[in-house]
Amino acid sequence: MAGLQLHGLTKRYGDFHATQNVELEVKEGEFLVLLGPSGCGKTTTLRMIAGFVDPTEGSIRIGGKDVTTLPPWKRNTGLVFQNYALFPHMTVAQNVAFGLEMRGIAKREIAPRVQDALELVQLGHLADRYPRQMSGGQQQRVALARALVFRPDVLLLDEPLSNLDAKLRHEVRIEIRALQQRLGITAVMVTHDQEEALTMADRLVVMSDGQVRQVGSQRDLYERPASRFVAGFVGRSSFLEGEIRDGRFTTPGGLTLPCDKPIRGPAVIALRPERMTVAAQPHPGSVPGEVEFVSYMGGLIDLHLRLSPTDLVVAQVSNREGSLIPELGDTVHVSWPDATAFPASDPHARGH
Ligand SMILES: Nc1ncnc2c1ncn2[C@@H]1O[C@H](COP(=O)(O)OP(=O)(O)O)[C@@H](O)[C@H]1O
Ligand SMILES: [Mg+2]
Repeated sequence: MAGLQLHGLTKRYGDFHATQNVELEVKEGEFLVLLGPSGCGKTTTLRMIAGFVDPTEGSIRIGGKDVTTLPPWKRNTGLVFQNYALFPHMTVAQNVAFGLEMRGIAKREIAPRVQDALELVQLGHLADRYPRQMSGGQQQRVALARALVFRPDVLLLDEPLSNLDAKLRHEVRIEIRALQQRLGITAVMVTHDQEEALTMADRLVVMSDGQVRQVGSQRDLYERPASRFVAGFVGRSSFLEGEIRDGRFTTPGGLTLPCDKPIRGPAVIALRPERMTVAAQPHPGSVPGEVEFVSYMGGLIDLHLRLSPTDLVVAQVSNREGSLIPELGDTVHVSWPDATAFPASDPHARGH
């Protein structure tokens, strides 16, 4: 078992930065998730860790040892690809054995190791099947077994669930996490799916444009987003755009609110839909809003509230006995306990 450190990890293709100065520390046995929009450099980061992409600058340490210039097979990482990348003409067992054979592991050692790896993912009984005879979820587990058969120090997972349907995705999330915990293996998973990231990670890394924007627990990111970008990417936010001046926040649509944030000038206020209070009557700090859209999801209901010609927010209310469930066109009164304000100029500027 080993931790992982990335220091100043940069990958350039010509003038383009696929990653820029990535600093990360993954603790032994930790499940770290890299979360970010498509193209932000997640796969590049993972492939640099695995040794399939050479960094332009920076270093990678696994278990304290510098592996930056080592070839993939000398790093002891196991990589699971998004599309599984199984060989169609090989059985499950042959797929899992392949890497061991390539590394010249003794034949008599291979069979038991393959069997062990397949048992880990509960596929011991399907060793002689071909990939096409298996469901997507089973193929996914073969890919996982193929990574684990190396007994890697670090398990690397690149969007491992994105080819599975929604129900299976939920199950496999739990399976992967349980297996990772049982083995105590250090893992880095990449995803663009925030729910997947939030449910699986010990800690999360939010990336955009090749850069790390924030590192923290689910709670850190949700309660204290470092920037407007993170506030919009982790959890949901409604944004009000306007200007802070003389202790007030004013929008072009005429909404005006008291505001004591240490920001002056153009600003954006982020509101969490689930933190809003919606009532039939005005109450301290509330503003009126007209219900423009109701999205009924059973236990939860999203209300799109028009606060001014330019200001629309989403408030989420829970559908409990006695809850106010407004109808389209109703006027309600909405308030929020606290909101985070960000300077409007830069999506990565620090909020208050
Ligand atoms: N071999 C390459 N040559 C040029 N550009 C690349 C190459 N690989 C990746 N990129 C670019 O680097 C950026 C990051 O890619 P990637 O790490 O695959 O993103 P993600 O996995 O977050 O979607 C993208 O803009 C991608 O087009
Ligand atoms: Mg990718």
